[in-house]
Amino acid sequence: MLKKLAPSILDADFTCLGSELKVIENGGADLIHLDIMDGHFVPNISFGPNIVRSIKSKTSLPLDVHLMVENPANHIDSFINAGGDIITVHYETCLHLDRVIQTIIDRGAKCGIALNPATPLNVIEYIINKIDLILLMTVNPGFGGQKFIPEMYNKITRTKEIINLQKKSIELEVDGGINLGNLSQVVNAGADIVVAGQAIFKSIKPEEIIKQMKNIIMKSGKTS
Ligand code: DX5
Ligand code: ZN
Repeated sequence: MLKKLAPSILDADFTCLGSELKVIENGGADLIHLDIMDGHFVPNISFGPNIVRSIKSKTSLPLDVHLMVENPANHIDSFINAGGDIITVHYETCLHLDRVIQTIIDRGAKCGIALNPATPLNVIEYIINKIDLILLMTVNPGFGGQKFIPEMYNKITRTKEIINLQKKSIELEVDGGINLGNLSQVVNAGADIVVAGQAIFKSIKPEEIIKQMKNIIMKSGKTS
């Protein structure tokens, strides 16, 4: 499976979002990761569908919407209408997970399920064949710039093993605390899509970091 880089714009400069998007495109990223935070499920508040719509009008890269919100079912339509290509909801926010998945599929978007670091893998057993993507959080969600939780390497590997047992192709996305230092270990553990925020946007040369990350991703994980 083609390995991908998904820069998160959470820590980009929102006063010049257009040029930040150009940096992402020129660096050769594959997706744009959009962290939607509601101040309830996670302590932080980020941005909503209007920003997503503006971004959609300025880029042809697929938009990877990570909903860290309570009652995500209430927001699926607005983020798909705004241009979201992949809609990922947290298992921890869905009392009726199967129904939420069906809603996303019926609306024509790709469906991802995110798991917090402490959430066990068996919760996806009965829905795994309906989804397109599993997002493993490798920090506790809510903020950029946190430290990767080392126990998550093993979770990535185990998730990849479960995915490999399925007939359907399901992408494994890994999100939180990834930088040039740990990227190859994350990819070798089994990640297909790597999210990176501060490692890119808090650096002096974001475009250069994206290129370096893409190189590492392409060289690592060739056997998985
Ligand atoms: C955390 C978000 C992440 C975050 C990644 O709640 O889901 O996508 O922005 O940022 P870094 O790479 O800085 O951990
Ligand atoms: Zn995210």
